[in-house]
Parts: sequence; structure tokens; C-alpha cells
Amino acid sequence: MNQAAAQPQALLGWMESLADSTRLRLLRLLERQELGVVELCEVLQMPQSTVSRHLKLLGDRGWTTNRREGTNNLYRMTLDELKPAARKYWVLTRDQTADWPVVEQDRLRLDRVLRDRDRDAQSFFADAAAEWDAIRGSLYGNAFQQSALLALLPPHWVVADLGCGTGAVAAELARHVARVIGVDQSPAMLKAARKRTHGLSNVDLRKGSLGKLPIDDASCDAVLIVLVLTYVESVEAALREAARVLKPGGRLVVVDLLRHDREDFRRRMGQSSLGFEPSRFSAMLTAAGLTPRRCEPLATEPQAKGPALMLAVASRTPSTDSTNPLSDRVDQKESPVSSR
Ligand SMILES: C[S@@+](CC[C@H](N)C(=O)[O-])C[C@H]1O[C@@H](n2cnc3c(N)ncnc32)[C@H](O)[C@@H]1O
Repeated sequence: MNQAAAQPQALLGWMESLADSTRLRLLRLLERQELGVVELCEVLQMPQSTVSRHLKLLGDRGWTTNRREGTNNLYRMTLDELKPAARKYWVLTRDQTADWPVVEQDRLRLDRVLRDRDRDAQSFFADAAAEWDAIRGSLYGNAFQQSALLALLPPHWVVADLGCGTGAVAAELARHVARVIGVDQSPAMLKAARKRTHGLSNVDLRKGSLGKLPIDDASCDAVLIVLVLTYVESVEAALREAARVLKPGGRLVVVDLLRHDREDFRRRMGQSSLGFEPSRFSAMLTAAGLTPRRCEPLATEPQAKGPALMLAVASRTPSTDSTNPLSDRVDQKESPVSSR
């Protein structure tokens, strides 16, 4: 009990705050569940002015806390947040009120209010299912989904982003893994990447070619090659280099163009090839010492005007080194798949 409450008048005033059956009922409800005034009125079957008056007194005497959510005030009573004397007093009071019929009635009505609350959410989704994707985007944007997925990455990973361009992928990745090594042969692209990743101390940008990477053997947990291989003269050599820098069991992810016949597009974009056919790409991965896990077309997006894309995932064939947990994981849980 605080010093003030230890004085006779203060103590009596403080005890008086509990000497009311409505306030006891309120505290029992708020100990079970954080609730708003409207819900409390429904459970207690009392007008809002009465409930609000009692809530104010309980708050002033330190029995309850509240927080604002939108236009609502939500109230609760948390045993651990009470002063020790109040906690003892409440535990005794709660015990003594356990058999009150009105308390049982309140409990049943609260059950129903909570069921209704749940049903409101469910019926919202039943109605919204058809438009949910659009509602989700307009309310919250789309970037959070990528952040959530990236947060699944093991934080200790070292990831190489080969042909990193302006560093868009590297900058995103860097927030979720230990280190990103970006490699690109174009000084202009690297300059833009440096600007974009300024302040991210775990991004290491290096000038170099995919045919001869400036990265040590077996030093990366994962390698990304996004929209680069159609520019490369020897895709075979680039894949061999990717395999070399991967740790045993490490993972390669490639996104690039599916084979197409838009010669004008290829020329305009300065690309060396018209993209890749998944089953042939899968064979190239195998020839480079990698185990293909998947190799498949990606769903096209309505606003995307370029050729469709392909996703390929492979892992470096694990060594017999049993101390590498990643090598075991990939080998046992995933079976190699050919293209779909
Ligand atoms: C179309 S951009 C893609 C950039 C980035 N990956 C992205 O998704 O935004 C292709 C990048 O690959 C780089 N590049 C192309 N051939 C390369 C090679 N042989 N070695 C290193 N970088 C290369 C280019 O300089 C360019 O920055």
C-alpha cells in the first residue's frame, strides 16, 4: 500500500473504492479481458454514464489502466500491475465473490460478447474474401509481405548478389542477414548501389565478373542471380563460379527470362540470349556441380510488359562434412526435382 493510503482517511477512501458491487463486477470482468465501455455496458446491462463513472473512479484509485485504440478506450485490470497491498486485497475479494450469482451471470454474458466479437471478425472475412487482396494492398501496401518473408532467412547467412545492379536486392537483404556481397562489372551500377546501400555496414560491394568472381571458395550460404544471366556470354562458367563460392549445401536462386522469341526486346535490352528453357537450365545446373531443386515458370503479373520469368533453385551438392548443419538439412528434407 502506498504512503498516502496508509493514512486513515486515505486508507478508508481506497477501501471504499472496492465497496461497491458494480465496481467489483467490473474488476472481475477486466481482470479476465481487456474491454471497451460499450462491451462492459452490455455485460453489466447498465447505462454508459454509470459504467463510465465507476471506471473513472477505479482508474483514479489505480485499480485499472486503459489505452486508446482508434476511437475506443480499452480498460483492463492486471494483477501484476497492482501495488502489493492492493493485490492482496483483490485476491481476497475475488475469492469472496466467486460464488455470487451475478458474477456467474456476468461471466456468461462476457462469453457471449466475446463470441460476437469473434463472429464479427469472421463475418468480415466471409464478406471480404473476394476483395481481400485489394483491401489488403490499399490499407497496408505490399512491402510488408516482402519484409515478413525476408525475416524468415537465417540471420547468420552470408549472401552473394551476383550482378547486383543498383543494389535494390542487396539493400533489402542486408536488413535480414549477416552480410551481403554484391558483385557487378559496371562501375555506373556499382556507384548507384553504393549510394543506395550507404549506411548499411554489412553490404560489401565488389567490382568483378560472373565468370571470375572476386569471392573466396565456399564462403557463401546463398547466391542470388536476378535478371543477369541473359547478359552473360558463358552461363555455364557463371554457374560453375556460383557453385564454387557456395558452401557445401548452400543455395543458389536464379530468376531470369523464360525462353522467348522477341528478338527486338533482346536487342533493345542489350541481352546475349533469349532466355532459358527450364529443363535445359536444370541440366546446366547439374553440369555446374549443383543439385537442381526446382526450375519453373513464375506467374506473370498483369502490368509486366516484358517476357515471362523463370525461377530456379539449386544447392551445392553437400560434401560428406557432417559438421555442416546446412548440408544435412538440404540433403535430407528436399529431394532434387527436375523442371516442371
Ligand atoms: C538487368 S541488371 C539486374 C540487376 C539486379 N540484379 C536487379 O535485379 O535489379 C543486370 C546487371 O548484371 C550486370 N552484369 C551483366 N553481366 C555481368 C557479368 N558478366 N559480370 C558481372 N555483372 C554483370 C550488369 O552490369 C547489370 O548491373
